[in-house]
Amino acid sequence: MKILLAKTAGFCFGVNRAVEMTYQLVDGGHKVATLGPLIHNPQAVAEMEKRGVLVAESPAGLPPGYEVVIRSHGVPRSVYDELSERGICWHDATCPFVKKIQNIALRAEKEGATLLVAGDAAHPEVQGIVGHTSGEVYVFSDLAGLKAWAGPKDPQKPLFVVAQTTFQVSKWQECSEFLKKAYTNAEIFDTICNATWARQQEAEDLSQKCDILVVIGGHHSSNTQKLVEVAAKHTRAVTVETASELQPEWFADVKTAGVTAGASTPSSIIEEVLNSMSEEINDSMSFEEMLNASEE
Ligand code: F3S
Repeated sequence: MKILLAKTAGFCFGVNRAVEMTYQLVDGGHKVATLGPLIHNPQAVAEMEKRGVLVAESPAGLPPGYEVVIRSHGVPRSVYDELSERGICWHDATCPFVKKIQNIALRAEKEGATLLVAGDAAHPEVQGIVGHTSGEVYVFSDLAGLKAWAGPKDPQKPLFVVAQTTFQVSKWQECSEFLKKAYTNAEIFDTICNATWARQQEAEDLSQKCDILVVIGGHHSSNTQKLVEVAAKHTRAVTVETASELQPEWFADVKTAGVTAGASTPSSIIEEVLNSMSEEINDSMSFEEMLNASEE
C-alpha cells in the first residue's frame, strides 16, 4: 500500500501563533487561561493543561492572577469589554485573517450595512464576527439557508457578505454566484483563508488519487469535518483523532491511502498516525519511504 501525505496537513499559521504565544507566556512564568479550549484538538489541549494552562468558560470564572490568551477564532467585542471591566490582562491571538472579518463587521456597523455571514452560527469564530456589529446580521450555512433569507429590512442600505475562514470553498462559490444575481448591491468579501483554500484543494486532489483518505483532526473541529466532506465526494473518507482509532480493516483492499489533517492537528499526532499505518498496516514501507512517496 502506498501512502500519500498532504503537504498542507496540520497546524496553520494562526493556530501555530496562538499555541506559541501561550507557551511563551507559560515559559515566562505567567498564569495563563483560555476561554474555551485553545484549539480543537483534545490531545494538544490536554498537553497544555499539563503545563498549567487553565481552560475557563468565561472571564467571570477566572481565579485571580490569570491572564487570558484570546483564541485564534476571536471573540465578540463584549468579551474584551468584560475583561477590561474585571481588570484581567489579555493577549490577543485572534488570527489576522479573522481580525480582517471582524473589521468588516465593524465597518458594517459604522456604515449601517446589513452583514451576511456564511458559516456555522454555533462556531466561536462566527459568534465573534457577529459580536462585532450591532447592526442587522444574518448567518447561513449553505445555499438553501441563504435562499431562505427574507432579505434585508431596508434594501436601500449597503449589504456586506463575508465567510467564516474555514467555510467550504465550493459552497461559497455557489452562494456568491446566487448573491451576485439576487442582490446586485452586495459587496462580497472573499474571506476564506488561504490555508483553508489550499488544504481543501489538496484534500480534493488527493482524494481522487486514493482508495481511502484518512483525515486526522478533532471530532469537533469544523475545518476537519469540511475536509472529510470534500474528500467524500471522490473516495472513502475517514476521520481519526489519534493513531489508536485507525482500523486495520479499512485498508484491506487499499492500494493507495491518502493522509491529511485539520488546522489544529499537531505534527506529533500526524507522525504517530503515519508510523502506525507504516508499521502495522504497511510493513513493507518505512516512515521515510512513505514521506518520500508523498513528495512524488
Ligand atoms: Fe487563521 Fe486560517 Fe488558521 S484563518 S487560524 S490561518 S485556518
